[in-house]
Amino acid sequence: MTDSLTIRDNRTGEEHEIEIVDGTIRAADLKKVGGLATYDPGFVNTASCRSAVTFIDGDEGILEYRGYPIEQLAEHSTFLEVSYLLLNGELPTSDQLGQWTHDVTHHTFLHENIKGLMTGFRYDAHPMGMLMSSVSALSTFYPDASDIADPANRYLQTTRMIAKMPTIGAFAYRHSQGKPYVYPDNELSYCANFLSMLFKMSEPTYAADERLVKALEVLFILHADHEQNCSTNAVRSVGSSQVDPYSAVAAGIGALYGPLHGGANEAVLKMLRRIGSTDNIPGFIAGVKEGKEKLMGFGHRVYKNYDPRAKIIKKACDDVFEVTGINPLLEIALELEKIALEDEYFVSRKLYPNVDFYSGLIYEALQFPPEMFTVLFAIGRTPGWLAQWQELVVDKEQKIARPKQIYTGHRTRDFVPMGQR
Ligand code: CMC
Repeated sequence: MTDSLTIRDNRTGEEHEIEIVDGTIRAADLKKVGGLATYDPGFVNTASCRSAVTFIDGDEGILEYRGYPIEQLAEHSTFLEVSYLLLNGELPTSDQLGQWTHDVTHHTFLHENIKGLMTGFRYDAHPMGMLMSSVSALSTFYPDASDIADPANRYLQTTRMIAKMPTIGAFAYRHSQGKPYVYPDNELSYCANFLSMLFKMSEPTYAADERLVKALEVLFILHADHEQNCSTNAVRSVGSSQVDPYSAVAAGIGALYGPLHGGANEAVLKMLRRIGSTDNIPGFIAGVKEGKEKLMGFGHRVYKNYDPRAKIIKKACDDVFEVTGINPLLEIALELEKIALEDEYFVSRKLYPNVDFYSGLIYEALQFPPEMFTVLFAIGRTPGWLAQWQELVVDKEQKIARPKQIYTGHRTRDFVPMGQR
């Protein structure tokens, strides 16, 4: 064997040969080395699956969906076309795209009882909590979704979920505003309809500025997938129990809610607002270097170079600000980035702006409150979650996710009666 690893176990003096395939060894093969296991909190160097959906080269700053560079997709494609690509592996023909667009458009409405469920939330409920609960509730409206072995059924549920996410997201937003929920307008494109459900008041048709619609398309495309990130791992992990896709995606939404993942852009805006002026940047950076806090929107587990999505978003900022006027926080963000990119602390740790550093500024310019930022991320990420879930469901190598542990607690102790503790 040439593609192999020889391990000498110094406890016993025994040597073991382990096969290397695709730059990995099978963790299960380590068992024969005296029952050895790997310890990898956060899965920093563990492949959990084989996937043909998304390729990332973190050192070079490359991101490709099904082999197509993100830059080309952001420039030439639409979110629904990219969703088709992620789910099916190939770009659609004109007929295929027509059918897909038709199918998604005709599933945008929600059962009235989902609306009823949403109106029951408190007036100040976080829209991510509302989104997570409503998506999970969809599993009770479509109990047939549990038949995950049937490809036609998977297609139906996938279409439903991509169609209904903007409706739920928009209802959650209107709820926080105390405004009536706006039903979908199926004459509009996916993104134009979303903006209509968010912002329409008494006008018969809400006509969003085309440049803003395009910016939203780009933002959704950039967020559509990112291989085995925290929320996708959650979807796969929960999906590995063979539960229905609504429950699996609800778990992904929960993971995305956290400030180290999808919640980071909300945290970036709060941070920029707190810094308040470029004069305060040196003091803030000094605090970060002393470990008092993190520079939110910087750093990435995979990218050790400028996040390619951040470059595209930075450009989209210009287009959006042309319509909405410049967000005053942009000046602070640009100066912060300039200083951080020259600072030894960030350079030596390869900390560059990630997708969240600029996305919040655009979202704010589009009039979204910070609580909605992660909802936008979730809508964009839905086709990626579902593409990964589909891949998992048909992958014969996959098993129910069940990591090992290193047990650090007590062993067999006798129960102590209450009076003797
Ligand atoms: N500000 C300051 N220091 C940082 C930062 C940051 N944003 N990120 C990492 N570091 C430091 C960290 O303290 C550590 O330093 P040391 O070696 O001295 O202990 C070193 O850099 C390596 O960091 P790490 O925590 O081991 O890296 P990780 O891969 O576990 O974490 C991360 C990745 C994204 C969670 C982290 O960089 C972070 O918390 N960034 C801020 C939150 C953020 O912007 N998240 C959005 C990620 S992109 C969108 C998404 O995919 O959800």
